[in-house]
Order: sequence, then C-alpha cells, then structure tokens
Amino acid sequence: MAAERFTITVSGHGAGTGYAHERLLVALERAQGFGHLRDLPRRLPVGCRRGGCGVCRIRVEGGEYRSDPMSRAHISAEEEASGVVLACCIYPLSDLSLRLEPPVTVKANGRVAAL
Ligand code: FES
Repeated sequence: MAAERFTITVSGHGAGTGYAHERLLVALERAQGFGHLRDLPRRLPVGCRRGGCGVCRIRVEGGEYRSDPMSRAHISAEEEASGVVLACCIYPLSDLSLRLEPPVTVKANGRVAAL
C-alpha cells in the first residue's frame, strides 16, 4: 500500500511533499534539503523535535492535519484554534498551505531575519 502523499506549500518559499505518517517538520527539512524552498535560513528553526522548545512554530492556512498534544507553554488554545502549531507535532491529512511563524525574511545582504 502506498503512503498517503501530500503537497506542502510554504507561502512565499515554495512547496515540498509530505506523508501522513511523518511529522511535518521532516517534510519541511526534506523540501529544504532538495532546494524546493527558497529564501529560507540554511536550516529551518529546529530544536527538540518533540514539542518542547517551540521554535518550529508555523501557521497552517489551509488543509487538514492531525497532531500530537502541544505544550500550552508554546501554543495557546487560541493560537492552536487559529492554526498556529508546532511543525514537529503535526502530520498532514491533506495538501497543506502554511506560513512560517514568525515569518522569515531575507535581508539584502543575504542574512536571514525573523520578524
Ligand atoms: S522542534 Fe522543538 S517544539 Fe518543534
């Protein structure tokens, strides 16, 4: 049986492939590694990979996903209700469109900054 495969679109940066059985963060790292995401930091903001540090915040703007429990120290109930989640804690159930949270910008000198 083939794994369920979805398109993960990162607003302003490009798109990659995600699978229902893997954490979204892994899909984003793979897309970045293959050069499918433009103008991102050399590495995506990644820390603990288990929902403990909060650095992998994203905002899901469209699509469905399931999630592991997320610490309220990093994602409030209001944020979660508005689509702000931890990329290491969710799994796509459909094509997803998302935005990095906070948005990442690239300065003219090539350095990356978070707003
Ligand atoms: S990498 Fe630490 S919460 Fe996602």
